[in-house]
Amino acid sequence: MGAQGAQGILFVERRLRTPDVLGFCGMTPTLETDRLLLRRWRGSDREAFQKINADPRVMEFFPALLTAEETDQAIVRIEKHFEEHGFGLYAAELRATGTMVGYVGLSIPRFHAPFMPAVEIGWRFAFEVWGRGLATEGARAVVDHAFRDLRLPSLVSFTVPGNVRSRRVMEKIGMEHDADGDFEHPGMPVGHALRRHVLYRLHAESHGAEGA
Ligand SMILES: CC(C)(COP(=O)(O)OP(=O)(O)OC[C@H]1O[C@@H](n2cnc3c(N)ncnc32)[C@H](O)[C@@H]1OP(=O)(O)O)[C@@H](O)C(=O)NCCC(=O)NCCS
Repeated sequence: MGAQGAQGILFVERRLRTPDVLGFCGMTPTLETDRLLLRRWRGSDREAFQKINADPRVMEFFPALLTAEETDQAIVRIEKHFEEHGFGLYAAELRATGTMVGYVGLSIPRFHAPFMPAVEIGWRFAFEVWGRGLATEGARAVVDHAFRDLRLPSLVSFTVPGNVRSRRVMEKIGMEHDADGDFEHPGMPVGHALRRHVLYRLHAESHGAEGA
């Protein structure tokens, strides 16, 4: 099933059921939790994601709000990442309503840092749905997928020290702060308030999902 996006981008959704992962097809699964469907992106997600990325509350710890065009480009990059690696940042849809409320998933950072190579777990949700445990719920499904299906040995996550909500999600999914791994984000100018980042790690063995 596919839909041609306004910028000529083909958004593809693939579904095929297996006992463990809903929608596993070749390299791209669809994950399901109690409240969320984590899936590939559709052209119809653009408007909701544009709104999320233009919300100063959501983007407090990022250098700038995204324009609609920048959001569209981000979706294209995310989809390309899925195509290249078989995993990515999933669009998160509320199962009850079908509303796209953000993303949670995996990505390979595009910058150089001492902890690289690594796969990052990350999340971003619409302000309206914060505080309901959705990020944690989605992240747990992504962690299980990363260790059980993708057999990744470990994951990292990082943010600025003041992003306590995100750090709390990291802690709730079992990640540990690796203070020796804290780093200066090379994408930020020296002295910028968002340059310093804290690094969290999660290892498959300690998570206990290896071989499950
Ligand atoms: C980070 C984010 C995804 C969390 O989403 P969420 O669905 O609200 O997360 P959850 O409800 O699963 O968990 C949030 C936790 O933060 C806690 N929290 C919220 N505000 C807090 C605050 N001011 N101080 C301390 N903890 C706080 C919540 O209590 C909850 O922990 P708890 O379950 O132990 O009570 C969401 O805030 C977001 O999209 N932020 C903007 C994007 C972003 O910063 N992404 C991360 C970039 S690294």
